[in-house]
Amino acid sequence: MMNRLRPASNHGARQTESFTGRKKVTLTPGHSLMDWIRLGRRGDLSGVGSGKLNITAGQLAVHNTQKDIWMAIRGKVYNLTPYLEYHPGGIDELMRAAGKDGTDLFDEIHNWVNVESMLDKCLIGSLIGDATSKAPGIRNVRSKSASSSGLKPPGPIPVHDWYQTTKDIVVVVYTKWDNMRHEMVIVDVHENEIIIEVLIKENTFFIHLKPTHKLQSIVNVKVFAAGKVEIYIQKDDQSCQWSSLGKSLKLHESYQRTKNIDCIYRMWMVLSNVMITHDTRLMRFKAPPECRMVVPIGYHVHIKTDISGMEIARSYTAVAPSLIKPHLDPGVLSGKMIYLMIKQYKGGVISPWVVSLKPGDKVQMSNYDGNFDLQRLNKTSHLVMFASGTGFTSMVTLIVYSLFTLNMSTFPIKLVFFNKTQKDILWHDQLEELTKSFPRFSVTYVLSQETEQTWNGLRGRVSMEHVTKFVPTPQETPNPLFCICGQWAYNDSVESFAKLNGLQDEHIHVFSQTS
Ligand SMILES: Cc1cc2nc3c(=O)[nH]c(=O)nc-3n(C[C@H](O)[C@H](O)[C@H](O)COP(=O)(O)OP(=O)(O)OC[C@H]3O[C@@H](n4cnc5c(N)ncnc54)[C@H](O)[C@@H]3O)c2cc1C
Ligand code: HEM
Repeated sequence: MMNRLRPASNHGARQTESFTGRKKVTLTPGHSLMDWIRLGRRGDLSGVGSGKLNITAGQLAVHNTQKDIWMAIRGKVYNLTPYLEYHPGGIDELMRAAGKDGTDLFDEIHNWVNVESMLDKCLIGSLIGDATSKAPGIRNVRSKSASSSGLKPPGPIPVHDWYQTTKDIVVVVYTKWDNMRHEMVIVDVHENEIIIEVLIKENTFFIHLKPTHKLQSIVNVKVFAAGKVEIYIQKDDQSCQWSSLGKSLKLHESYQRTKNIDCIYRMWMVLSNVMITHDTRLMRFKAPPECRMVVPIGYHVHIKTDISGMEIARSYTAVAPSLIKPHLDPGVLSGKMIYLMIKQYKGGVISPWVVSLKPGDKVQMSNYDGNFDLQRLNKTSHLVMFASGTGFTSMVTLIVYSLFTLNMSTFPIKLVFFNKTQKDILWHDQLEELTKSFPRFSVTYVLSQETEQTWNGLRGRVSMEHVTKFVPTPQETPNPLFCICGQWAYNDSVESFAKLNGLQDEHIHVFSQTS
């Protein structure tokens, strides 16, 4: 067995680096997010008093040790010395930008983390001089016009056009991307503003206009050959002939790397909240009236709230309303509903609050995020999924798509599902029913803490033996897809076992549910 644990750091935080390059530490006791919030309540942590300073790049550069670390993010300079041991990504990661402008690195890894509110008490002042022009430019893409953002587009800007029918205004975007799908278009139709975000691979193209006449927020998106996309938005007055689409607004025709764009949030309303196991709930959320967003398969959203003046976000994966009748809610496909399966962690900062929400309550939910490439599922000849606990949520839409959309396919679909006890198994009855309805679908449960003697299934923690049993041989299939989802330690083990069994990177997709 391959041991991928690094030696413990001098602060006693355990750190691993996965095959996917993601790093995570187990924070030492007393350094949780809640502890950081408590520390912040005691007062200023900047080390320079409450008067804010102007800092040059040269002054910043000398504060580059673990005993004294400053960092600039989006033009602001923070004293990170008190935060070091609270950083979920570990001390070594923070040190990569010690004494420097860390904006690019920060956004590359977690642009949804609200640095301004989390480090409010560590604020020293503003970065002045050369570096300031770089940092805020990237973050503020949403508030600048394409021409004034100063950022080079990541490729040729997609061409767009429009036409009208009696009923609709139709915006046409030529993405030239064969794998384009309707989920990759997010639309907001406000009274005086339409924003269309077209996600093309890792980039986003914006149409941002003040429409000539009023529109309804009834939107339909169709995708044609060569990645041509048509976005139908219903006219308010169907007798009206439009002579122009509207006036360009700030973001119109801007084209940027999605990672460089501010993570935006909208208010979604809880419609239902149903217990599915002793600690996990299925929650249904309704989009605000102006928004159409369909979450792609295997993608997640962020939910944020304010805890003691600090803005905290957590990720949750969109699931289907059911495994048996996955398309029973048309609101999901029309971009008006999202279902999330949320486990309550006792002592957790966010999950106890989310699961306590009642129908009618509202939450701030972000644009979706993720990197699962659906083409891999379309091309596979054998799907194996290793999931642990709520890691199952990432597999739900993969299972549904494989069984119900790729319904002419015959490839085997195998779920290996790790839990503590039988009562923790999510959607157990539905999984059993699926195995009866679809002979090509199988599920194997592995329990680590089941005391019930009548349990005949597998027991224990994930091992090489489990993985070897399910990795298909090259004779069985030329193109396996092996998906993994759990916490980092689980993911790391399963990924290393899969590779020791001969699978290559192109056969593996890891969803990380560690936050
Ligand atoms: C991409 C992604 C997708 C996710 N999808 C889902 C989902 O669909 N459903 C869901 O319920 N959660 C999901 N999560 C986990 C979720 O984002 C939070 O981590 C979780 O709700 C705990 O947050 P908290 O603020 O309540 O707990 P925290 O305050 O962060 O932690 C409290 C305690 O719980 C422990 N803990 C935190 N997270 C986990 C975990 N995942 N497993 C075991 N122990 C944990 C911590 O070690 C700590 O002791 C996802 C995470 C990521 C990164
Ligand atoms: C610029 C240097 C930084 C680097 C290289 C870095 C790196 C990382 C890494 C690798 C992770 C783990 C992500 C994973 O699970 O895969 C992480 C998590 C995290 N970091 Fe940083 N980080 C940096 C700066 C900061 C700063 C300044 C803050 C302060 C607000 C911060 C807050 C967080 C938080 C809150 C998480 C957990 C995110 C989550 O909930 O998923 N990081 N970081």
